[in-house]
Amino acid sequence: MTRPYKLSALEGKVIAIDGPAGSGKSTTAKMVAARLGFTYLDTGAMYRAVALFAIENDISPEDARALEAIAPRLVIEFKTEEEINRVFLNGRDVTEAIRSPEVTSAVSPVSAHAGVREAMVARQREIARKGNVVAEGRDTTSVVFPEADIKVYLDASLKERARRRLIDFSRQGIDSTLEEQMALLAKRDEFDSSRSNSPLTRTGDSILIDTTNLNIEEQVDKIIKLITVRLMKK
Ligand code: DC
Repeated sequence: MTRPYKLSALEGKVIAIDGPAGSGKSTTAKMVAARLGFTYLDTGAMYRAVALFAIENDISPEDARALEAIAPRLVIEFKTEEEINRVFLNGRDVTEAIRSPEVTSAVSPVSAHAGVREAMVARQREIARKGNVVAEGRDTTSVVFPEADIKVYLDASLKERARRRLIDFSRQGIDSTLEEQMALLAKRDEFDSSRSNSPLTRTGDSILIDTTNLNIEEQVDKIIKLITVRLMKK
């Protein structure tokens, strides 16, 4: 692959991408990482793995004490197999299980506990210490990597985000409606943005990209262009 920049300019770099559910973060971050040869860091998958553990072990998503005690002991790993980013929880492949509607409902309260966040943030920083990363989530630009080299905030209208979710679910064979997805997303947005620990927020130094009318390639191109312009000049 030809890269329009010197690789030496991209050593120890962090590209952080935040935004609400359905804004296109995951697909965009994955593709930007692939184009740059960086590690893709899906921070939401880590909270989802904790939520899955809670469900499977009959721990209430609201039970801060139990979850804060267990979170630092969970082994959550990422491995790329045949170009698919796989997520492992205590050695078990949970890539598909963490995307279920049950986990999606439980993950917001699970991720709101300070001790759970502390444990996950420590892991996320550890992964970034090992090499260049494209990290995405809700607090990667604000809390996890406040010194990130490039910060992007992706957003899109509620209706468009719900439409994208509906397509994802239908691929998984899950029935839903646009109205139901809009209501669920609005609820999750409200929860993720108003919690006291690391709420979703757009930092002053994040570049806003509204993806409502963009396709994935356009989103990726915009970010790659930003990286090329900003980092290559340093
Ligand atoms: O991006 P996602 O839908 O996989 O994220 C799942 C949940 O995890 C989301 O509702 C909020 C939480 N989350 C978080 O609190 N902080 C992050 N950095 C990433 C996700």
